[in-house]
Amino acid sequence: MTEPLSPQAERPPIRPLTTGEVQALLDGREDALAELREEITANFTAGPGAVLLRGIDPDLFGEGRFASALARIGGWLGSLAIQSPQGERVARVERKPGDPTARGTYSDAELRPHTDLHDILALACHRVAASGGESLLVSARDLYAAVRHEAPDLLAVLLKPYVWGGNPALQSANRPRPRLPILFPPDAAHGAQVAYNGYFLRRGGEAAADVLARFDALAQRLADQTLFNLIPGDMLFWHNWSWLHGRMPFVDREDRPRLLFRLWIRSILAARADPALVELGRRMDEDHKITSQWEKASP
Ligand SMILES: [Fe+2]
Repeated sequence: MTEPLSPQAERPPIRPLTTGEVQALLDGREDALAELREEITANFTAGPGAVLLRGIDPDLFGEGRFASALARIGGWLGSLAIQSPQGERVARVERKPGDPTARGTYSDAELRPHTDLHDILALACHRVAASGGESLLVSARDLYAAVRHEAPDLLAVLLKPYVWGGNPALQSANRPRPRLPILFPPDAAHGAQVAYNGYFLRRGGEAAADVLARFDALAQRLADQTLFNLIPGDMLFWHNWSWLHGRMPFVDREDRPRLLFRLWIRSILAARADPALVELGRRMDEDHKITSQWEKASP
């Protein structure tokens, strides 16, 4: 069994919601939420860039009001991006085979540690699986320290830029895609950051397979030490460039399958380590819009 990296491995803080805050979210009122809004905003401008809100009873809210409450809080942090050619800004994450554009969204498979393409991400748990489905967040700070300590030869390679490919199931404009380092050292404006998605980097074709494999193995080892369970009602927000995320495979209950709601948020609250990071989300938004227009124009 692997020893923990350090007792200080970074984890998202849990912020319990007060009864008044839960009621205000349920009623769609803003008046009792000023303190919560300030705390969450400060978490992204000057804090760890991750927070787990706990205290909602999702059965009391139902799916619609639960998803709306998530979107309301996400709207405090930035603007909600569309998540598919269908254009939804709050996506359902649930097992549903047969959609080639969605990849992990509709699968029950393991999702190894990675970043997505927008600045802030959120997942809210409405129903858990029968077994499995544990979440993971690995901070870029821990990742950067581990690479320096355990694989210093890898560091120089991770600081070089690599092109990110696109999703072949989506239509796309014919123009160059962004090239970005995988790791960004901390500086005066921000902590260590990371931009890593094995799927898109492999599609880009520039990053060597052994580099991706070594980085994946190191990230997964850290991830194994930070697994946690989202419980029904939990809403998790995190800065995509400051944390890798992922989940373990799961098995659904037949009558009540696992259901999460997800946000992709464009946000300038936390500094980006590289201005080109914004391009990843922009290109994803653009591909979804182009695909939507293409599908409408197709017979
Ligand atoms: Fe993801």
